[in-house]
Amino acid sequence: MPVLASVSFKGGSGKSSMVLALASAFADVNARVLIIDADPNAPLVRWSQMAGLPDTIQVMPALDSSQLEKAVQGGRAYFDVVLIDSEGSRRSLGMRSAIMADAVLVPCRLSVLDAIEAIGVDILLRSTRGRTTIPLAYVLSATNMLSWRERTARDALEQLQRMQRPVLPGLPDRAAHRAVWSYGGTIHSLDDAAVSGLPSARADAEALASAVLTKLLDPAMHTELRHGR
Ligand SMILES: Nc1ncnc2c1ncn2[C@@H]1O[C@H](COP(=O)(O)OP(=O)(O)O)[C@@H](O)[C@H]1O
Ligand SMILES: [Mg+2]
Repeated sequence: MPVLASVSFKGGSGKSSMVLALASAFADVNARVLIIDADPNAPLVRWSQMAGLPDTIQVMPALDSSQLEKAVQGGRAYFDVVLIDSEGSRRSLGMRSAIMADAVLVPCRLSVLDAIEAIGVDILLRSTRGRTTIPLAYVLSATNMLSWRERTARDALEQLQRMQRPVLPGLPDRAAHRAVWSYGGTIHSLDDAAVSGLPSARADAEALASAVLTKLLDPAMHTELRHGR
């Protein structure tokens, strides 16, 4: 049932990778997952055409707001969790998807420029009539030891923390999070012998899925998702 939108005005912030990692974590506990690909470049539609798509994940494109609305309606009725991916620009379907979602995830790399774009989503949502209280979290993406050592990373983090929203440790920089885009399948379905770092990538995704459920969603919704309907 829950509808989660991955939104940021910045391309390359990690939106599609986060959607795929979360889909993988939810599918691994047998949730039926709908990914709505509202990015005209259709990265997730292309990914779904490769080998290894798990039975529990379906991907549907949405090229305009009416397709998006129908897909969300269908997703709420027939799937346990719906994840919406969008393009990283102010003119994309990102804000539409955020308005329709139960929670918004804003992936953000640790740089001040990225933080400013991420905060823009939050500010715009707060000013949208009727959606001032929608749950939103910033999700740190593609961090590594080096990025954390930089003073600018701490500056970016401080900017995010000032918004008084949860800042979730997201997906650290790992080759395994990139591998799914070349091989198809998910971090849970890929063969451990073929790709290194899969156990850690799975643990990242599972921790993020669990943080999203507990910090952003109504407890009734995650009980439903955990125990099936
Ligand atoms: N946690 C991660 N680890 C490794 N690479 C990542 C991670 N997150 C994103 N990337 C890489 O960063 C680039 C942008 O990520 P992507 O998910 O396509 O962002 P967006 O959808 O916001 O444009 C891609 O090359 C992707 O493989
Ligand atoms: Mg993308």
